[in-house]
Amino acid sequence: MKTYLVTGGAGFIGANFVHYMLDKYPDIKLINLDKLTYAGNLENLKEVEDNKNYSFVQGDICDKEVVEKIFKDNEIDYVVNFAAESHVDRSIKEPEIFVKTNVLGTVNLLNVAKNAWETKDGFKEGKKFMQVSTDEVYGSLGDTGYFLETTPLDPHSPYSASKTGSDLMVKAYFDTFKMPVNTTRCSNNYGPYQFPEKLIPLLINNCLIHKDLPVYGDGMNIRDWLYVEDHCKAIDMVINGGRVGEVYNVGGHNERTNMQIIKTVISYLSETVDSAITEKLITYVEDRKGHDKRYGIDPAKIKDELGWYPETTFEVGIKKTIKWNLDNKVWMDNITSGEYQNYYNTMYEK
Ligand code: NAD
Ligand code: DAU
Repeated sequence: MKTYLVTGGAGFIGANFVHYMLDKYPDIKLINLDKLTYAGNLENLKEVEDNKNYSFVQGDICDKEVVEKIFKDNEIDYVVNFAAESHVDRSIKEPEIFVKTNVLGTVNLLNVAKNAWETKDGFKEGKKFMQVSTDEVYGSLGDTGYFLETTPLDPHSPYSASKTGSDLMVKAYFDTFKMPVNTTRCSNNYGPYQFPEKLIPLLINNCLIHKDLPVYGDGMNIRDWLYVEDHCKAIDMVINGGRVGEVYNVGGHNERTNMQIIKTVISYLSETVDSAITEKLITYVEDRKGHDKRYGIDPAKIKDELGWYPETTFEVGIKKTIKWNLDNKVWMDNITSGEYQNYYNTMYEK
């Protein structure tokens, strides 16, 4: 029976990963360590809280004692590190916490895992530290080309710089100690449980309450969208089959301009929910500082080595995501009626 320490499992991708793994493997033990910041939400995990294979620890990945106690009480086989400050706009306003959690938190996890796993001859068999990273570490693309694992790191925002810092520490633990690690770098995820500071759930929520849809700049920036379940599958495959020390890019040749995304959401909601949801809601606002123009992943390595491919087309994924949001209005209302309102006002109602 393998034991997974998943960090940040109460957030968007982490929660999807917890569900994915507990559904797929009846014989694993999964411990979720999450600080429960504004982005962490135990509502995301209601369906698994009574699962005998699942347990939750509220704590900070920067806290050595907390992480050491988990390793002392359990024979951890895999660390899957999702915990992070994840929102670019917030990193522009408050970079320090990004360095603390994303860089120092990752180093703390690496250290505790290394101390628990290292033997006089190397590392115990079957252990792995899995770092969940982002394509933003590569910077921004022009009109052509894709990010490869060999693309030079060139982050621009405090968020992506902090993720690059953590990636490099993971690399250093492999290069220096031969610690068994993998890093995945994924493009923009969407799907259930995504916090509404991010583009797609923000659009869905604003449409439903007939609020303006804020478009940064000219709306022509491009992101490469991946349904979250396909990302979870990729992480599972890398944990089980990824060559130690390697980086794997995860994305699906699924590029859209932000304006295409906005028009897709409007058109679907207008047809299925309320014809008063129209393009009149689109509002151009001040551009994000240092706004990366285009992201696009070449997933050839993970496809060729592990057989992974994105199963969910954007057309299917966006409908599933909108349906999930429509079926879970209480979830959204609980978030948007809290502290989120202050965030929204500071960001958009200046
Ligand atoms: P999220 O913001 O929804 O969730 C982050 C989770 O981490 C929350 O539950 C939060 O409480 C927890 N957390 C934050 N600081 C912590 C700390 N110090 N100790 C313990 N827990 C802490 O983020 P997400 O969108 O689910 O992203 C998860 C990971 O995937 C991040 O590392 C992010 O960089 C990476 N990633 C995200 C995307 C995307 O499109 N969302 C794409 C590629 C990579
Ligand atoms: O590429 C992977 C990254 O994707 C992850 O590492 C990050 O954690 C995740 O937040 C995401 O970053 P982005 O900055 O690309 O996502 P966001 O949803 O914030 O914005 C997507 C695009 O939409 C971006 O070009 C900015 C634009 N945007 C965003 C918001 C919130 C708007 O035009 N208006 C908005 O209100």
